Formats: sequence, C-alpha cells, structure tokens
Amino acid sequence: MTVILALLLAAAPAFAAPRPDLEALLKKMTLEEKVGQLQQAGGPIEGSPALLELAGKGKIGSTLNVRGAKTVNALQRAALGTRLGIPLLFGFDVIHGYRTIFPIPLALAATWDPAVAEAAARLSAREAVLDGLRWTFAPMVDIARDPRWGRVAEGAGEDPFLGSAMARAYVRGFQGKDPASSDSLAACAKHWVGYGAAEAGRDYSTTEISERTLREIYFPPFKAALDEGVLTFMSAFNDLNGVPASANAFTLTKVLRGEWGFKGFVVSDWDSVAQLIPHGLADGADEAARLALGAGVDMEMNSVLYSSEVPKLVKDGRLKTAAVDEAVRRVLRVKAALGLFERPYADEALASAAPDAAARKAARDAAVRSLVLLKNDGGLLPLSKSLKTLAVIGPLADDGAAVLGSWTGDGKAAEAVTVLAGLRAALPGATVVFSTGCAVTGDSDAGFAEAVAAARSADAVVLVLGEAGDMSGEASSRAFLDLPGRQLDLAKAVLAAGRPTAVVLLNGRPLTLSGLAEKAPAILEAWQPGTEGGAAVAAVLFGDAGPGGKLPITFPRTLGQVPLYYNHKNTGRPPSESDHYTSKYLDAPVTPLFRFGHGLSYASVRLSGLTVSAGKAGSYAVAVDAENAGAREGDEVVQLYIRRAAASVTRHVAELKGFRRLTLKPGEKRRVEFTLGPRELGFHGLDMRFAVEPGVYEVMAGTDSAPGLSARLTVAL
Ligand code: NOJ
Repeated sequence: MTVILALLLAAAPAFAAPRPDLEALLKKMTLEEKVGQLQQAGGPIEGSPALLELAGKGKIGSTLNVRGAKTVNALQRAALGTRLGIPLLFGFDVIHGYRTIFPIPLALAATWDPAVAEAAARLSAREAVLDGLRWTFAPMVDIARDPRWGRVAEGAGEDPFLGSAMARAYVRGFQGKDPASSDSLAACAKHWVGYGAAEAGRDYSTTEISERTLREIYFPPFKAALDEGVLTFMSAFNDLNGVPASANAFTLTKVLRGEWGFKGFVVSDWDSVAQLIPHGLADGADEAARLALGAGVDMEMNSVLYSSEVPKLVKDGRLKTAAVDEAVRRVLRVKAALGLFERPYADEALASAAPDAAARKAARDAAVRSLVLLKNDGGLLPLSKSLKTLAVIGPLADDGAAVLGSWTGDGKAAEAVTVLAGLRAALPGATVVFSTGCAVTGDSDAGFAEAVAAARSADAVVLVLGEAGDMSGEASSRAFLDLPGRQLDLAKAVLAAGRPTAVVLLNGRPLTLSGLAEKAPAILEAWQPGTEGGAAVAAVLFGDAGPGGKLPITFPRTLGQVPLYYNHKNTGRPPSESDHYTSKYLDAPVTPLFRFGHGLSYASVRLSGLTVSAGKAGSYAVAVDAENAGAREGDEVVQLYIRRAAASVTRHVAELKGFRRLTLKPGEKRRVEFTLGPRELGFHGLDMRFAVEPGVYEVMAGTDSAPGLSARLTVAL
C-alpha cells in the first residue's frame, strides 16, 4: 500500500492534490480579496512602503522585480497577516541566468543540445531562489523569423521543432522534478502568442498570422512547454489579427484552455491590459479590464486596472463572478503547486553570491557548446598555442556587458570573462597586444592606424566585433543588420595587414556579414556567451575544445531578403537561374549567407546509409551513419528533415523533425536513429485538423538545412 502510494506521488503531475482546499478558500474570499490575487505589482528591488501597504491590505497577489530574502519576507509577512493569509508569489526575469549568466537563449538554441538549456535553467533557478524568487518570466518561446526584431536574442530562433525541444528543456530546468521543491521556480511560457512576428521587425508591432501558421509555426513551442507542465503563460503585447493577444479569446481560451486544457494561470505582459486602449480595442480602463479578464488573462502585470475596475464590473454585471473565480482558482492552484502555502518564506541566511567554480564551469561548458564556426578557410582555426604575439583587436574585445547580453538578472559585467581576458589566460607565455580600433557605433576611424600596427606586430590576430550588450533584447529593433559603426572598415584594414586573422562575433541576432565573409578567412559566432564567454571563446580558438554549434536562425546576405527562413513554401515559381519570371531578386541572390543548421567543426563528419523502415503504430524508423573522416575529434549535429511535394495544403520545402549532437573521434562511425511518428508527420489539413495524410514523404538527413541524403517514405493509411 505504501509502495503504491509512493509510486502515485512520484508520478503526480504539477497540480495534484492541492493544499489547502482551494475551493473552500475561494468560498471564503470577498470580491476585493479575489481581485487582490489577480493583481501583480511592479516594484523596486528593495521593495517600498507602498508595496508593504498593498500586501498588508491583500491588494496584490504577486510582485515582480522585488528581490532579496529579507525584502520578500517582509512583504510576505504582511500578506500572511491578512484575514486569509494567502502568500505572495515573487517573480522576476531570470532569462539566461541569475547571478551566473549563461549564453543568451538564441545561443543556447545553437547548442542543439536541450540538456545544456536544462542545466542552465536548473542552476539559474537554484541561484534565484536564494534571493526569495519563485517565478521566472521564462522561457521566451516565440518563433522569430525577422532578425531586425531585437528579441530574437531571447528565443530559440526560427524553427518550431528545435524551439519545442528547447521549451521543454527550460521548463524542466526551472521547475525541476517538483515545482514545490525549495530550489524550483515556476516557469512562464511567453509571449502568447505571435509576438515574434512583429511587422517589419519593430518591437511591439502588429501581427497578422493565419490560423494554420499559428498552429504550425508559432503554437508548437508553447504546447511543448505546456506538455512539460509549465505553470504559467504570459499574454503578449502584439495585436494579433485584429484582437490584441492580451484580449484574444481565441488563443487565451479556445486554444489554451479548451483544446489544450491548461490549468495554470496567464499573466499579462507589462501594462498590456492598459495598452488595450492605445491598441484601439478598449475605449477606457473599465473596458480594458473587462476584455482582458473576459478573454482569459488571469493576472495583470504592472498596470492596475483589475484593482480599479473589476469590482465595479462585477457589481454592475458586466463581468461574471464566475470569470473572476476561475482566474483566482488558477492563481491559487499555482501557488499551491509551488508549495507556497506550506513554505511561504525565503531563507534569510541565504543570498545570491558571486558564481563559484562549479557554476563557472557550467557556464563555460554551455558557452563552448553554443559557439558556431561560420567559416574556417584553410583550417585557420584552431590557432597554435605556441604563438609568441597575439593581437586582440576590436571595440568589444574587453567588454563585459557585451558577453552578457540583455536580461542579465543579478549578473555583474565585472564578474564576466571578456574575450581579451579569456585569451590572455589561455596564453600565459605570449605577448597579447590589445587595441579597440574603433567604437561599436560612431564614425571615427582614428584608432585604425594603431590597430593595424598591432596586427602587424603579431603572429596572429583575433578581431572581436559585433553589437553592444544592449543592442538586442526588448525595444532593441534595428533597421540595419550590418556590423554597426566603422567595424567592417576596421576589419578590412586589419585583414589587409595579412596576418592569420580570426573574427569573433558578439551579437544577439543574425547580422548581414557578406562584406566581412568575403575578406575574413575564419569567423566564430560567439553570440552573447555569458559570464564565462571569453574563456569559452579562447578554448575553441586554440582547440582545447571544438566548435559544434549550429545556427538556429538563418543569416541573410542582405537586409532586403528579410524575412528569410529555411522552412518557407516553394511557390509556384521557385527561383531559377534560367527563367526570369521566377521568385527572386534582380539585385541579390535568394539564398542566405549562412543557412539554418549551418556550423563547422574541427571534425569532418560524413553521413551515409540513410534508411527508412516501418516501425510500430504508424511510426517509421529512420537511421543514418555518421563517420568522422577527419583527423581531429569533434562534434556534428545530425539533422533530419521531411518534405511533402504534394499534399492537401502546401507544405514547407523542409521541416526539421529530428536532431542529434554527437562527438566523434577520428575514424569513429555511429548509426544515429530517429523515429518519425504521427506527431512528426502530421499537419493541419484543409479543415485545420491535425492528421497524417497518406502519400509520399521525402525524408532527408544532413548537417544543415540543405540535407544531402534523401529517401522516400510512402505512408499508407
Ligand atoms: C516586458 C517583457 O516583454 C517581458 O518579456 C518581461 O517578462 C516583462 N516586461 C517583465 O519584466
């Protein structure tokens, strides 16, 4: 009996057996107490007398940005002192680290290794709870096809399959095995939904997305997070097909609750309830609150229209008590799932501290795996460690903020290893000369001469270029994707010095690199690699570790190609050199500079022997051999794509359906197996229902999104 009970408990989903009896609690609540649970207040880190008063009067159910065990405990004491003593939930943006900063999420996606994202999220949760936090506004699982949008940095890129794998990993990492354990955070799948499709790549802009594209491209990572037990969702800022996402009953209620059965709660984004007014949906505060709550936004972040309007709306019959009750029930359910009723307080003996050796190692390992070698002509990399003089050049080479990127939690730039510091540590016996060359932005070339002289004096050069730490992330859209300022000119001047030169890029989005790639023999995409970024870059440049990351997003040649993504439709006139009247440009190629899935390795892995055979229950077994034909050990990501040449609705030219990152010794050969089941083969047909259609499927395997191997699969139903 005990054994059976233990087994049942072990398998219990996040919402099993809520304590206390939430229905009984709900019955005791006044309307004002209920509304209090639905209001989140933004606060200063150190709290404030105003927040204490709100908590003590039961007027808030949650805060964001307040942190520190003593501070949150003071607020919690005030909340527990109210008539019903319902605990507060303390939230914060723990996006890619709390004190130890990991690579930005786009870079973690470039690992093509969900275990790395999971470990990063786990460690971040452990650090964040030390400061009294129990809820993070992450993962951001928005698909992004437009690199002008600065928030591409915060997601997993352009692909729903890779994005779903990463979404699951983050939820597992943040929430742990049991969200009630004292080192877990509630995760939040955001921004529901379509936010990444912002028109013209301008943050907060309008979106128009067909239902099929929503279901096939934008929804899947959210569904994956939900399947993994994510406790909360955040409603997005964008207007979605005429109904802003924070008042969109189709996405918030019909899909999320009706079709998917989500039991947790939805928090609005910052002020997105009040923003229903400038959107042009609500004509006043009362309507904004009514529309948001009515559509399924359970908790309001920062703006306070729920507090001011909902009591009135219920009293005059414009909002049903049942709608308020349901929202409160969802909030209480999450608080219970987190164990807040039993353990509301943070341990004041603990506090966030500088990253220790283990945390640094985890951050370094993650960063190493996130690096993508875009180009390596003539095997310039790895560089020899026996060089006597190394010139490190570029405005970002010694910039701690640039390795951390946006959303740095409690991370400190001063605790980060810059690329310069990493290279110096890797070459204790060499002379390392450093020159910034120019600023990140601006017009001056005054530093070029010194930089060129530094290059001439050295055996090899590392040029560190890209975007400043705050040039991507929220409200950081760019209308140009080039290297900012004079950096390309600096690169050309330094490359003309003729020394072996590797370029390291620090950036939060795809850049247009055609001019650089024409001249530079080796380019390492380092993204914003986090606290140990510089050490990771040095390890890969000198061959202590191999690069093995792959692009999770397409790098266009030029801005005019945007949006450019691998899983596009074929069109009726696919581009053809010989036919003028085909889908292309007069003045630029249609192909990307670096395609989705691209990334080089110090190994040389060849794929062969692709087979497809019938498996169990409508599934098919796919296998392919991967063999390292090179002389060095290294990584490769085997990628599996499918395509349907004809179907009841047109399909994409390729759809990622499997991937596996391998490390292979020289001469080592391994057979990699995948399963294609209904989930991988199905799609939303004419009637919008998800189903597998009989017919011919092309199954393709490769090391990027232009896979070299192909086999036919005939699905008979
Ligand atoms: C606005 C951002 O869109 C969202 O991602 C974030 O979680 C909130 N602000 C809270 O900081």
